[in-house]
Amino acid sequence: MCPKSLLLALLCLPSLCLAKIIEHAGDLNTQSFDFVVIGGGAAGNVIANRLTENADVSVLLLEAGGFDEDDLLVNVPGFFFNTMGSRLDWNYTAQIGQNNRTGPLTRGFVLGGSTAINGMVYTRGTSEDWDRYADLTGDSGWSWDSVQPYIRKNERFTPPADNHNTSGQFDPAVHGFNGINSVTLFGFLHHLDELIIETSQIPETEFPFNLDQNSGHQLGIGWSQSTIFNGTRSSSAASYLAPPFRQRPNLHILLHAYVTRILPATTNQSHSFSGVEFTQDAGETLQVVTATKEVILSAGTIASPQILLNSGIGDSESLSELGISPLLHLPSVGQNLTEQALLAYIWVVNSTDPRDFAGPNATALTAEYLEQWKETRTGPLVNGGLTTNCFLRLPDNASIFESFEDPSAGPNTARIEVVFSSSDIGMFTVPTPDNFIGASPNLLTPASRGFLTLNTSNLLDHPLINLNLLSSEFDMFAMREGVRSVRRLMEAPPFQGFILQSTINATTDEELDEYIRENVVAGLHPVGTASMSPKGADWGVVDPDLKLKGAEGIRVVDASVLPLVPAAHTQAPVYIVAERAADLIKAAWYL
Ligand SMILES: Cc1cc2nc3c(=O)[nH]c(=O)nc-3n(C[C@H](O)[C@H](O)[C@H](O)COP(=O)(O)OP(=O)(O)OC[C@H]3O[C@@H](n4cnc5c(N)ncnc54)[C@H](O)[C@@H]3O)c2cc1C
Ligand SMILES: *[C@@H]1O[C@H](CO)[C@@H](O)[C@H](O)[C@H]1NC(C)=O
Ligand SMILES: *[C@@H]1O[C@H](CO)[C@@H](O)[C@H](O)[C@H]1NC(C)=O
Ligand SMILES: *[C@@H]1O[C@H](CO)[C@@H](O)[C@H](O)[C@H]1NC(C)=O
Ligand SMILES: *[C@@H]1O[C@H](CO)[C@@H](O)[C@H](O)[C@H]1NC(C)=O
Ligand SMILES: *[C@@H]1O[C@H](CO)[C@@H](O)[C@H](O)[C@H]1NC(C)=O
Ligand SMILES: *[C@@H]1O[C@H](CO)[C@@H](O)[C@H](O)[C@H]1NC(C)=O
Ligand SMILES: *[C@@H]1O[C@H](CO)[C@@H](O)[C@H](O)[C@H]1NC(C)=O
Ligand SMILES: *[C@@H]1O[C@H](CO)[C@@H](O)[C@H](O)[C@H]1NC(C)=O
Ligand SMILES: *[C@@H]1O[C@H](CO)[C@@H](O)[C@H](O)[C@H]1NC(C)=O
Ligand SMILES: *[C@@H]1O[C@H](CO)[C@@H](O)[C@H](O)[C@H]1NC(C)=O
Ligand SMILES: *[C@@H]1O[C@H](CO)[C@@H](O)[C@H](O)[C@H]1NC(C)=O
Repeated sequence: MCPKSLLLALLCLPSLCLAKIIEHAGDLNTQSFDFVVIGGGAAGNVIANRLTENADVSVLLLEAGGFDEDDLLVNVPGFFFNTMGSRLDWNYTAQIGQNNRTGPLTRGFVLGGSTAINGMVYTRGTSEDWDRYADLTGDSGWSWDSVQPYIRKNERFTPPADNHNTSGQFDPAVHGFNGINSVTLFGFLHHLDELIIETSQIPETEFPFNLDQNSGHQLGIGWSQSTIFNGTRSSSAASYLAPPFRQRPNLHILLHAYVTRILPATTNQSHSFSGVEFTQDAGETLQVVTATKEVILSAGTIASPQILLNSGIGDSESLSELGISPLLHLPSVGQNLTEQALLAYIWVVNSTDPRDFAGPNATALTAEYLEQWKETRTGPLVNGGLTTNCFLRLPDNASIFESFEDPSAGPNTARIEVVFSSSDIGMFTVPTPDNFIGASPNLLTPASRGFLTLNTSNLLDHPLINLNLLSSEFDMFAMREGVRSVRRLMEAPPFQGFILQSTINATTDEELDEYIRENVVAGLHPVGTASMSPKGADWGVVDPDLKLKGAEGIRVVDASVLPLVPAAHTQAPVYIVAERAADLIKAAWYL
């Protein structure tokens, strides 16, 4: 053993080298840190990782949920639909916004946050989405070109679980291979995907093949990319808090720590914040830690505005009405909630191919496939929510555009995504005893806006969430046309003999509207409740550098700061925001 490794071995006493994940605040040896990060989800874990690259910086990460590295519900990609409503879910209920219906708004309650329970779909949004963020915020640092380095810092493109030849299934030129979070192509080929890709190769098709939908141009059909490594989910906890990172002596991770409020540095109503209040016993006792530099709020689109409101940061009048002392009047907190709208569309198929195993035999097959997954990390359970995607524009000459501004970011940005499901159909109600697949329209660019408010002054109560889906006439139009697009797609020659029956019969505008209102659900990509806006704007919650407007000591870094939902599933955009935020924080403190 050479002297250096001997020294390392000696230093590596168990107490020093144990993972820095603790469950009791009593095990922290200080109450003061440079940074306190609230929420260990997509964004929070990026911040915790990047700030502790500098050994002189101390970070405490507070997460309300727990962490079990070997949790099959998290690790097996094919189990993702079982996470909804499980012990890993906050179980929020939201007003859907149509026909007075309520529905679940699933959010991850575990280290890794929603990246530990999501469908793992990796979509960045289009160049137009990012360029619009730059325009809206007045900060060119949010443009597509400017965020490229942050995409690369996040992404590590890896071979698929089945090691198949991926040539022609993605464009290596637009990907990063040295980042932290694994992104990959399908590791098990479904029959449905073969038919979808075949359709994209028909000359003159409305649904043409796109080599890489993450190139900035997303329209058409392509192979989907997922945050999976070697057949296992790559959550923000598995990637950004992997053992070498989580063992940094300057990074402290406290689980089961439910943050209730952010506190001012002094009691004189100042707008300088440094305290973070949390509970580990359902509110019986409240503890406080201090951030000497900044508090980073990364609790997500629902909990971040809730924590701000609990702290007296929001619309002063409505806070007073609830009996909460207003500290900082920011009426946009909780407003402009923007969520995609999904309509499950199930199709009965003519197949006994076990690869289309969503039907009656799913349970028995799942047990068999789990054995295969455990042994070799192969088989149908290695795939995430999507293995192919289809992004659609809808007709630009429709009369609706005479009275409505196009809510999409530009002509190369989709308004509708067709969400295909073969193995992962479990998220939808099973309507038939036959084998079936899903091809479901998802409204990517809603014009409708919802909102979130406190229900009571009890710090632990869930907020009132109104998604207000499809309240805009434009959104109803887009959903109807989405259904019709899916029907045209399913009539393409490759599907003949495979698709047996549509389970939605509505055809006229009126029939479709009625069906859509009764069945639409949350797309689970909400943003906007602590929106960025230009410095000095009379709306918005944070400046383009993500600092809370009118305050010192707080930055918000998570999905809530996106002013509009991108035409995408939102985890990659949140990773990008967080990677840039880490650089902004380092620059502000010369770290
Ligand atoms: C079921 C589901 C499927 C999805 N599928 C996809 C997909 O396939 N692809 C995709 O791109 N996106 C998907 N998303 C969305 C994506 O996961 C989110 O946009 C992204 O994770 C948001 O990141 P965030 O950092 O804002 O919040 P989160 O990742 O949700 O992290 C917030 C963290 O804060 C913690 N927290 C909250 N409140 C408190 C508190 N009071 N105290 C302490 N900690 C707290 C939470 O427990 C959580 O760990 C899905 C989401 C869900 C729920
Ligand atoms: C959500 O509901 C599930 C099922 O009832 C439960 O096990 C879980 O504890 C709930 N989540 C939270 C955060 O309470
Ligand atoms: C929704 O509820 C309100 C108030 O209870 C009621 O007036 C309205 O008719 C309901 N709408 C529908 C579509 O059920
Ligand atoms: C993968 O496929 C491409 C195109 O079909 C081919 O050119 C290439 O040689 C293959 N690579 C390997 C490693 O087999
Ligand atoms: C609050 O107190 C701090 C330090 O005690 C002081 O610097 C600040 O000016 C005070 N703010 C107000 C609004 O009184
Ligand atoms: C909502 O966002 C828009 C910009 O998209 C802005 O003009 C408006 O003021 C915002 N509303 C609130 C209440 O913040
Ligand atoms: C279910 O499995 C049984 C037994 O293997 C098989 O006979 C049947 O065709 C399967 N059903 C479907 C719809 O795949
Ligand atoms: C993937 O997992 C399998 C099964 O556990 C293992 O044998 C293999 O070494 C892993 N591959 C990589 C690249 O980690
Ligand atoms: C839109 O354009 C298409 C193709 O160019 C045409 O068939 C259709 O009639 C047009 N629709 C309207 C409403 O103008
Ligand atoms: C809001 O609070 C009331 C009164 O405590 C309660 O009955 C209701 O269920 C709460 N609503 C939600 C959505 O939690
Ligand atoms: C079902 O598929 C089989 C073979 O793939 C085909 O022979 C049969 O005609 C199809 N049935 C229907 C109703 O299309
Ligand atoms: C759709 O129409 C068919 C044929 O008329 C009927 O058998 C089926 O029950 C209808 N399905 C629904 C969901 O209404």
